[in-house]
Amino acid sequence: MTNAAARIQKLSLLRPRLAIVLGSGFNHVLSALDVVARQPYSKIPGFSTTTVAGHGGELLVGKLGDTPVIVLSGRTHYYEGHTMEQATFAVRTLASCGIKDLLLTNAAGGINRNYRAGDFMLLTDHINLMGTNPLRGPALPGLPRFVDLSQAYDPALSALAVAAAKKNRTTLRRGVYLAVSGPSYETPAEIKAFARLGADAVGMSTVPETIVARQCGMRVAAISCITNLAAGISQSPLSHEEVLETGERVKGVGARLLKTFATLYAQNQD
Ligand code: HPA
Repeated sequence: MTNAAARIQKLSLLRPRLAIVLGSGFNHVLSALDVVARQPYSKIPGFSTTTVAGHGGELLVGKLGDTPVIVLSGRTHYYEGHTMEQATFAVRTLASCGIKDLLLTNAAGGINRNYRAGDFMLLTDHINLMGTNPLRGPALPGLPRFVDLSQAYDPALSALAVAAAKKNRTTLRRGVYLAVSGPSYETPAEIKAFARLGADAVGMSTVPETIVARQCGMRVAAISCITNLAAGISQSPLSHEEVLETGERVKGVGARLLKTFATLYAQNQD
């Protein structure tokens, strides 16, 4: 076990199988979490601290809807200047802690013309245009070098998200997430090109985490909060404030979605 994993295991006797990574717009779920233990990233060896407004920077262990979970409040982004290795270190640590299933959440810009700001989208697949791959580098002992991504997002875990949305009467779109490195937003020409490539939403995270989680054998599901329409889809300029504002407006919906997901997850354990 890594030093980071050992530190996390020492926090409590809970041994969750499920972990949730909170992106912008999803932090409100913390108010529904029965926290057993918490640790700032600065106290976990190897974790990078995050500098983005709207992102916490803390690992929590607790129960969500009676389900044991590890929650990562805030993530390390590639655009902050971290290496891909740093940006995915937390996911490797979760695997080392015995996490089997990972729910990733993020904020994304809507490319699909049917989407509105405040919608939620289940990722069915992704397109990696970050210009690099988190598995680049020396082969890791015991882990596959060439990871199969033909079903990156797990159908059974994703079905729980669909069921959770249905239970809450929340519309959950299904679409393809395209990842860019950021941190600039896209140009309208780029968004037009991404639409042609088959993308429904665009964002600056999640994909490296999915790839590493798949290498570690975890099942992954992912949900985007469509915080804004992508560049050129709406005529107004994009801003991080708009992303945060939309996240704030629909925070209750996102929190209920995650909590119901966690409840259904426990009910579907063998
Ligand atoms: N583009 C890229 N990343 C994003 C966006 C966007 O429009 N909205 C939230 N994250």
